[in-house]
Amino acid sequence: MKKTYKCRLLKKTELCSGIYDFVVEAPEIASQAQIGQFLHITCGGSTFLRRPISICDTDGSNTVRFAFQVKGEGTKLLAQWEPGAEIDIMGPLGHGFEVKPGEKAAVIGGGIGVFPLLRLARETDSAVFLGFRTKELVAMEEDFKAASDNVTICTDDGSYGYDGFAIAAMGEYLLENKVDVIYSCGPTPMLKAVKQIAEHMNIPCQLSLEQRMGCGIGACLTCVCETKNEGMAKYKQVCTCGPVFDAKEVVL
Ligand SMILES: Cc1cc2nc3c(=O)[nH]c(=O)nc-3n(C[C@H](O)[C@H](O)[C@H](O)COP(=O)(O)OP(=O)(O)OC[C@H]3O[C@@H](n4cnc5c(N)ncnc54)[C@H](O)[C@@H]3O)c2cc1C
Ligand code: FES
Repeated sequence: MKKTYKCRLLKKTELCSGIYDFVVEAPEIASQAQIGQFLHITCGGSTFLRRPISICDTDGSNTVRFAFQVKGEGTKLLAQWEPGAEIDIMGPLGHGFEVKPGEKAAVIGGGIGVFPLLRLARETDSAVFLGFRTKELVAMEEDFKAASDNVTICTDDGSYGYDGFAIAAMGEYLLENKVDVIYSCGPTPMLKAVKQIAEHMNIPCQLSLEQRMGCGIGACLTCVCETKNEGMAKYKQVCTCGPVFDAKEVVL
């Protein structure tokens, strides 16, 4: 059974409308967390099930940072916690990104999918492409620019940065530059496009998937995704086998 911890909320920031950035005191999680793993969080009130939120960053020994968008009841309640409160968090959970030392990477994220990519941007030699619908939704630009000296911010409506989808910006980059691996997290249409480009250019690729979750620890099968495997292994739990998968393995 995965451990749960009472984690004191140290800092709360509203990054943009309805998107919150929390830093909590969680030494056990901070010291173990791998890039791309997630937390399963009790939001409070009448919500019974925990909600999965990616680990954005840690200081390696004491604090864990995560950011989330208010979507429904759970995240609305979570957003109401104030510094000093204790939040019940299970984690770190799941299988994260498999990073190899010295590799050159392209890192691409969209919307709330950019948050689990911050540590990747810092800990790999990477070109980073971050897509947002519009300027007002651009989040963590300064954090990413502090983490990597090659960050391209893209907006779908051209209101800020590169005018167009992050996938287009990455495609242009890959025509001129060789990378060893692509890492991605974002909405399914973006992941599908990333998978296609990776297959077409024969570049290894890891994708972080999102599914609705129940238990978060492999017991309820709420979160299964389809893979190309045969037989019993055709459906895998995103909470334990993922959220990060080899792009070649999953069916999107
Ligand atoms: C591994 C993982 C990591 C995640 N990391 C983050 C993160 O870093 N930041 C962040 O903002 N969100 C993240 N999510 C999504 C987040 O878990 C959902 O937005 C949240 O659970 C919604 O809960 P709610 O009670 O507010 O909304 P609900 O009332 O449960 O649902 C509101 C809306 O959100 C949709 N939704 C619910 N659960 C999910 C889900 N798991 N994935 C996609 N859509 C969902 C519903 O279909 C509905 O449209 C992650 C999800 C997973 C599986
Ligand atoms: S959420 Fe229960 S098995 Fe994945």
